[in-house]
Amino acid sequence: MRRVFVLTLSLALGMGLRTAHAQEKRYPIIPYPQQLVPIEGAFTITGATRLVLPANGRLFANEVAQLQALVKQGIGTTLKTATAAAGNAIVLKQDMTLSGEEDYTLQVTPQQLLIGAKSPTGFFRAIVTLRQLMPSAIEGRTTGNLRSVAIPAMRLKDNPVYSWRGMHLDVSRHFFSVSYLKKFIDLLALYKMNKLHLHLTDDQGWRIEIKKYPLLTSVGAWRELNNQDSVCMEKAKENPDMEIDQEHIIQKDGKTLYGGFYTQAQMKDIIAYAAARHVEIIPEIDMPGHMMAAIRAYPFLTCDGKSGWGKDFSTPICPCNESTFRFAEDVYSEIAALFPSKYMHLGADEVEKTSWAASPVCAEVMKANNLKSVEELQSYFVKRMEKFFHAKGKVLIGWDEILEGGISPTAILMYWRAWVPDAPVKAARHGNKVIMTPGNPLYFDAQPDRNSLGNVYHFEPVPKGLTAREARSIMGAQANIWTEYIPSEKRADYMFMPRMTALAEVLWTHKQDYDNYLQRLNEQYARLDQLGVHYRLPDLDGFTEDNVFVDKGMLEVKAPFTGMTIRYTTDGTIPGLKSPVLPAALPVTAPQTFKLAAFSPMGNRGDIYTLRYRQEAYAKAVTEKPADSGFRLDYFKGAFKTTAKIKATPDSTFRTDKVIIPEGLGHGEAFGARLQGYFYAPETGIYSFYLTCDDGGMLYIGDKTVVNNDGWHAPLQKSGQIALEKGWHPLKVDFVEGGGGYTLKLEYSVKGQPLQKL
Ligand code: ACM
Repeated sequence: MRRVFVLTLSLALGMGLRTAHAQEKRYPIIPYPQQLVPIEGAFTITGATRLVLPANGRLFANEVAQLQALVKQGIGTTLKTATAAAGNAIVLKQDMTLSGEEDYTLQVTPQQLLIGAKSPTGFFRAIVTLRQLMPSAIEGRTTGNLRSVAIPAMRLKDNPVYSWRGMHLDVSRHFFSVSYLKKFIDLLALYKMNKLHLHLTDDQGWRIEIKKYPLLTSVGAWRELNNQDSVCMEKAKENPDMEIDQEHIIQKDGKTLYGGFYTQAQMKDIIAYAAARHVEIIPEIDMPGHMMAAIRAYPFLTCDGKSGWGKDFSTPICPCNESTFRFAEDVYSEIAALFPSKYMHLGADEVEKTSWAASPVCAEVMKANNLKSVEELQSYFVKRMEKFFHAKGKVLIGWDEILEGGISPTAILMYWRAWVPDAPVKAARHGNKVIMTPGNPLYFDAQPDRNSLGNVYHFEPVPKGLTAREARSIMGAQANIWTEYIPSEKRADYMFMPRMTALAEVLWTHKQDYDNYLQRLNEQYARLDQLGVHYRLPDLDGFTEDNVFVDKGMLEVKAPFTGMTIRYTTDGTIPGLKSPVLPAALPVTAPQTFKLAAFSPMGNRGDIYTLRYRQEAYAKAVTEKPADSGFRLDYFKGAFKTTAKIKATPDSTFRTDKVIIPEGLGHGEAFGARLQGYFYAPETGIYSFYLTCDDGGMLYIGDKTVVNNDGWHAPLQKSGQIALEKGWHPLKVDFVEGGGGYTLKLEYSVKGQPLQKL
C-alpha cells in the first residue's frame, strides 16, 4: 500500500522541493506509516498534560510506563492520569475494530493526542512513532532538558505488511555483552523490527549456558585468538573499530583466551527486556554442522571421535548414534524452556558429510531407514529433531539446506544462498513458510558501500515466479550479521546502521520512495547520535578513488547533512577531529593524495576516503570505428583468487552487448571471466568509472588500469578516472568469482552528469 499525502491545494500548487522536504522534516518517521494526513499545528506535552488510560489499563501497564518514561526524558516529570479527557490530554483507547495486533492509529490535534490500538503491541508501535516525532534531545543521557515536547498534528493509520521483520546476530564468532544486546534490541524496537535471531553457537564458541553439559561453556565458550582475530588486528591499525573488545579477553593457565557466554539468568533478563519492547528472540543452536565448540568439549559427538576441517566446513556431529540425539534433545529441552518464542532455529547449514559417508554406523542407519544419500541422512536428522521440537510445542526453522534430501511440510525455510535462487520458490510451492535472508543484500557483515543502503531499500521480499497465493508463504525477511570480522560493538553498529532502517521500511511499509526515505533518514542521525550509535555516515560525493586532472583539478565535496563536517589530511595520516576542515573547493595542481572523512556533530567519524590525484594527457581514441559495439566474453573454469591468476586459455567464449556476467554462469562454482570490447567516449573529458563486483574485478581502458576491485569479496564498488579523447577506446574487464552468487556492474559519468550503465 502506498502512503497517502493529502495536501491543501495551495500547498500542492506551490510545492517545490523545499516544501516537500519540509514534510519529511516534520514527519521523519521510519518506517513511514501506511497513511499519514498532515494537520496544521502541534500538540504540546507539558507538566499539565493529563493521561487518560483505557478501561482495562492494566493490560497496557508496560506501554504506559514506557510512554511515561519517554515524557519524563523530555520534561522531567511523568504525567498525571485522569479518567476523562478534559483540556490538554493524551488519550489511550483500545480499538477492537483494528484488525492486526500491531495496528494503531494516531489523531493528533493541538487539543488532544489520541492513540488507538487493539493490543499492547499496537500501543508500543504507536509510542515508537511518537518518539520519532519528539525532538532528539529526549534521547540524551540527562532527563528533563525540555520545558515542553511538541508533536506535529496529523491523522495516521498504520499496520505492517510483513509479520517477520528480523535481525540476526552471530554472537559466536565474536561475543557481544548483555548491555550491547539491549542496545541492539532498543534499535530494533525504535524501527519497529520485531524478531531477533541469536546465532548462539558455532565452531568458534558456545555462548549459552546449558546446565546439563557444563563443558559446553567452561571449555566451548573460550578459544585462543584465531586467524579471523588476526585479520581484525591487522585492520585495526587503520581502523580503530576493528580492535577486539578487550572485555572478552581473559588470561587462563598462561594462555590468552577470547570468549564469553550468557548464563540462563542473563538470557532471561535479555528476553524480558526484548519482550517489553515487543521484540521476540529466536534461539539458534546450529547443528549438525558448525559444532566444533561443542565437539571440543564432548568429542563423543562425532562419528569417529575425531574432528577437524574438511574441504569447506568442520566435522559435524554424528546423526547415526543415539547418544548424539540424546545430547541434542537435552540441549534443546533447556533452550525450549528458556526461550518463550514458538520458534527454534536448528541451523543445519553447511554440513561437511564425508565423516558420515565413511562411518560404518551411518551405513547401517542409512540401510535401516532406506536413506540413499548423505543428504537424506541430513534430512533424517532434521526431521527427527523437528518431531522433538513439535513435542515441545515449537516450530522448526532451518537454513535452506534443509530442502536438500527432502523437507517436512511444517518446517520454516530461512533462505540465504543467493546462488540457489529456486530454493524459496520450491519451498513456498511445497507449502513451507519462508523467511528471506539472501546474502545480497541482506548479509550485513558485507562491507557497506555507497550502494548498499539503496540495495537494501529496493529489496523485494517476494522472490520472482510466485503467484499471489504462493507469495503468502513469505513471512518476511531478515538481515544477518555474521561476526567473524566484527570484533567490536562499534563495528557492529557501523555494519547494521543505518542499513537496518532501510530494511525496516521495506518490511513494514513495503513500497516507498527512496529519496523521500533518505530525507527522513537525515533527520534520524541526530537521534542516533544522542543514543550513542556508531552508525555509518552517508557517503561523500565529488570524487573517485583514483582521480585524474589534465591541467588543474578541483576537489569539491558537499556534506550530506547539516552539522556534518569534512576534514582532510595530505600526509597519509587518518583525519581526526583536529584535522583541517575541507574548503568548499580545493584546487589540485600537482599529483597528491588526500585522506578525507566526515564527522557527525557528536564526532562520529565516517568512512576514510583515500583520493589519489594524478596528472595525465587525454588518451587518444582508436582511429577506426570498431565493427561491433558489443563485448566478447571469455569464460575460464577454475578458482582464481585474483584476476592475475586467471589461466591462459578460455573454456568457452560468448558475445554480449553489455558489461554483464549472464545469469547462471558457473552454476555456483568458482570461475574467471574476461570481457573485451570498446567504450565510446561521446566527448573529450575526464571519465569516472564505478565498478561493482562480487567477487573481484579490474577495469582497463587502453593501456591504463582504471579501477582495481580485485580479489574475492562481497559486492563492493570501487571507482577510478581516466582522461579520454572523444571516440572509441579499447576496454577490458577481468572478473573472478569464488563460488556462490555474483555481481558485475560497470557505470560511468563525465563532467558531473548522472551515472550511466555500460
Ligand atoms: C549461512 O550463512 N551459513 C547460513
